[in-house]
Amino acid sequence: MSAPLIRADGLGVSYGALEALSGISLEVRAGDRLAIIGESGSGKTTLALALAGLLPAAADLSGGLAWPVWGGRPRAGRDTGIVFQDASGCLDPVMRVGEQVGEVVEAHRGTTDAVELLRLVELPDPASIARAYPHQLSGGQRQRVALALALAGAPRLLVADEATSALDPVVQARIAELIERLCAARGLTLVFVTHDIALAARLGTRLAVIYAARLVECGNTADVIAAPRHPYTRALLSAHLDLSPRADRPLPTVPGQPPAAGAWPAGCRFAPRCARAEDRCLSGIPQWRGRADAGAACILADAASA
Ligand SMILES: Nc1ncnc2c1ncn2[C@@H]1O[C@H](COP(=O)(O)OP(=O)(O)OP(=O)(O)O)[C@@H](O)[C@H]1O
Ligand SMILES: [Mg+2]
Repeated sequence: MSAPLIRADGLGVSYGALEALSGISLEVRAGDRLAIIGESGSGKTTLALALAGLLPAAADLSGGLAWPVWGGRPRAGRDTGIVFQDASGCLDPVMRVGEQVGEVVEAHRGTTDAVELLRLVELPDPASIARAYPHQLSGGQRQRVALALALAGAPRLLVADEATSALDPVVQARIAELIERLCAARGLTLVFVTHDIALAARLGTRLAVIYAARLVECGNTADVIAAPRHPYTRALLSAHLDLSPRADRPLPTVPGQPPAAGAWPAGCRFAPRCARAEDRCLSGIPQWRGRADAGAACILADAASA
């Protein structure tokens, strides 16, 4: 098997005293489309940024994080492209779209031009879009421009953090399909954060479930959905039997509150909300069960997957 693009080995990330991620072991292989799901504040964005080598300087890393294919931290824009939820954040309101895309292409010494990139993201009449200002475009069009900017340096890895969450359901579905086509056509590896399990199921080939800064389950998306091993994953899925995509649907609610960041309970962090918790769950962090690339951190995982 080829070397992974990204390998996290017991990765921890802290912002000062706040532990945003702990003990994350995970590989991303070329061609994977990895969905990261979990509740708000669980560490999804931190994980996506860490995997792309884009954490802010304020973040303290521990454990291992390597990019074997690149041999070092990937170059932002050149090896990795990133798209966030709010496209306006990456667009200058007083500059024509084509000039902005052109500048990024030039910065990366790309061979394509702005109109070609706008065509790539399937914007209708890309030449007139290039002459427009961002406010003259719809939200979906702006998000396509953001995608064009992310792809301007012809990166191998695309990171999308809630990139379609703010859009209406039909537009969200179209952009998700576009991202899927781009991944196939350009051999892109995708890491995406979403609150929508249906989107994770449709667009993802791999699934990572984060709970309270820890990876609680990972595996091939279809396998995890067919037979979730962790009670948290099971709770998410059972609260969400309808897997048709809808942008306005938040992550299903699991009874109880997630622990406050940094105030983690000893033992399994999900135990206080877990209907199946036993005394031993409250004492030690559960070991990972199953394979490194398909398993869960739960003492019940073996039994659950049998
Ligand atoms: N730059 C930062 N400085 C300090 N703390 C941060 C920073 N970025 C994230 N955090 C903290 O790290 C924890 C994880 O945040 P993160 O943004 O990764 O969560 P998330 O799962 O993406 O949440 P959401 O679904 O709300 O986007 C949170 O407690 C957050 O407040
Ligand atoms: Mg986030």
